Amino acid sequence: MTQPLASVQWDKELDQLILIDQTRLPRHIEYLFIRTIEESWEAIKSLQVRGAPAIGMTAAYGLYLGIRHAQNASRRELEQLITEQASYLASSRPTAINLVWALERIKTKAFNHPEISPPELIQLVLEEARLIQQEDENVCRSIGEHALTLFEDGIGVLTHCNAGSLATARYGTATAPFYLAQEKGWNIKVYADETRPVLQGSRLTAFELQQAGIDVTLICDNMAASVMQKGWIQAVIVGTDRVAANGDVANKIGTYGLAVLAKAHNIPFYVAAPLSSIDLNTEQGADIPIEEREGTEITHISEIPVAPAGIQTFNPAFDVTPSHLVTAIITEKGIVRGNYKQGLAELFQNHNIV
Ligand code: MRU
Repeated sequence: MTQPLASVQWDKELDQLILIDQTRLPRHIEYLFIRTIEESWEAIKSLQVRGAPAIGMTAAYGLYLGIRHAQNASRRELEQLITEQASYLASSRPTAINLVWALERIKTKAFNHPEISPPELIQLVLEEARLIQQEDENVCRSIGEHALTLFEDGIGVLTHCNAGSLATARYGTATAPFYLAQEKGWNIKVYADETRPVLQGSRLTAFELQQAGIDVTLICDNMAASVMQKGWIQAVIVGTDRVAANGDVANKIGTYGLAVLAKAHNIPFYVAAPLSSIDLNTEQGADIPIEEREGTEITHISEIPVAPAGIQTFNPAFDVTPSHLVTAIITEKGIVRGNYKQGLAELFQNHNIV
């Protein structure tokens, strides 16, 4: 098995962020060397780095890049700069709450240490960014361990878009059980889709699982019903960009359709969600801001037009799956089912997370 590519890396020696340009995969493995906050913002906006946890990590490092020059600022000026740069980064994409979560976590840490000097504060921001990345690997592994308790050797599992290693520090969220099953010697037969609008099932999930030697079969989005009807799918597992307090789930466009199909075929529909993707301040799915992207993502494939010039388009990047279609939400701290409003609130309370 090949070690999965690390999509986000901190280069300590050159004090820069290294990203895999995910828009170029799978044909080209190209790296971006990010030295400014503006480059971080642009990489997030353009999907060069994507997936909720990876966006959060990039924003965290981006914040450091946006303040590291301010060594001679006063403490007050530096705090002001941190606040401004964090809001700028938060404006890059609206749906994934991990972005705001990472920035708020760093701000809280920084502002809770009034005793340290501006140069020390700048280093603290970098350390916190590194911690967020290190923790994410363990979080994903724990999600995988919990998810595996719901799976059996030999089953077929459908996953949508890429909630994989490329979207996290390692393992992915929805893909973590596949990597862990492989470690145990199980054969889970993975079906991957999201072949439109941005082909992340085919370009990213099929790529990373194939590289890892995991049994993966690519299908187009409109084949999911047929594959379920054949009895090849025993579970669906997806990632998320934001879970509302009532358990409604925002994820890559097409997820809702799969949840409806899963229900029709009596197949469990699981959501792998780190606590950093659960937003108790958003009451319900209808309150989650859904990003709309350029119509060219639909009218073109790799810059080749596949629709008439001038056609009207509607291109939401995400949809919301109502909680009643979700069989369980799998977090690093355990599995929540049934009454999500209560279950999610209790999960945060029990682990003292405010
Ligand atoms: O537009 P993207 O590629 O950032 O959307 C990604 C997804 O929808 C993922 O499923 C989600 O962010 C979870 S990644 C662990």
